[in-house]
Amino acid sequence: MNVIFLGPPGAGKGTQAKRIIGRLGIPQLSTGDILRKAVADGTALGKKAKALMDAGKLVPDEIVNGIVDEALGSPEAAKGFLLDGFPRTVPQATALDEILQRRGRKIDHVINLEVPTEVLVDRLSGRQTCPKCQTPYGKDTPPKRAGICDKDGEKLIVRPDDMPDRVRQRMLEYESKTALLTGYYRKRGVVRAVDGVGTVDEVERRIIQALGAERPGVDR
Ligand code: AP5
Ligand code: MG
Repeated sequence: MNVIFLGPPGAGKGTQAKRIIGRLGIPQLSTGDILRKAVADGTALGKKAKALMDAGKLVPDEIVNGIVDEALGSPEAAKGFLLDGFPRTVPQATALDEILQRRGRKIDHVINLEVPTEVLVDRLSGRQTCPKCQTPYGKDTPPKRAGICDKDGEKLIVRPDDMPDRVRQRMLEYESKTALLTGYYRKRGVVRAVDGVGTVDEVERRIIQALGAERPGVDR
C-alpha cells in the first residue's frame, strides 16, 4: 500500500506514521526526519538545509525530490511506503507523480489529518523529540521517564523549529504552499479526511478505518 500523510505541523503525522507502519509492514519516509538526520550528521545536505529548517521555511523542491526518489528506489519501499511530510508543494507533487510513473506505481490513499490551529500550537509548544529515532512526545503523550526516549534511552530535545516564532512561520508555509494539495489529490478520489483530535489510539483507529487496512484493534 502506498500512502501519503498530509496535515499541518503538529497534526500527528509522525506519531501516527510510526504506529501505522508496524501494521502495514511498510517504511515511513519522513523528509523531515531524513533532513534532521543529515543536519545532525553534518553532511553536505544537512549544511544546505539547516538554516532553512531552523527558520521554519521549506527546503528547496529539488533537494527533497532527490531524497524521495532515492528512498522510493530502496528495497524496503518495494512493497509500499508511507510518505510523511512529502509532498508539500505542487512541484513536489508533480515530481512524485513522475517518480511513481517511472516505477510503475501509484498512490492508494492520502490521509489528511485535520486539527484546529489552537490545538496544533498547544501540541508543538509542549513537544520533545528523540534526536536518534525522531519519536515525538508531548503533554498528552509523555515518555515513561521524563526527558528520556522510551525506545532507545536517548535524552529528548526540543526541535529548534518548535520555538513559537518558527511555528508561526511553519504554519504560514503550510497554508500558502501545502494546504492546496488536498485539492490536487481529491480529484483522483484518494483523499480521506481524518479528524486528528482525540487520543492517539482514537486517531489511529480512524486512520486504520480510512485505509480500509484492517478492522480496528484486531491484531495489536
Ligand atoms: P517535518 O519534520 O515534516 O515537520 P512538520 O510537517 O512541521 O510536522 P511536525 O513533525 O512538526 O508535526 P507532525 O504532524 O509530525 O506531528 P507529531 O506527530 O510530531 O518538517 C520539518 C522541516 O523540514 C520543515 O519545516 C522544512 O524545513 C523541512 N522539510 C521537511 N519536508 C519537507 C518538504 N517536503 N519540502 C520542503 N521542506 C521540507 O505531533 C506533534 C505533537 O503532538 C507531539 O508532541 C505529539 O506527541 C503530540 N500528539 C500527536 N498526536 C496527538 C494526539 N492525538 N493527542 C495529543 N497530542 C498528540
Ligand atoms: Mg513530524
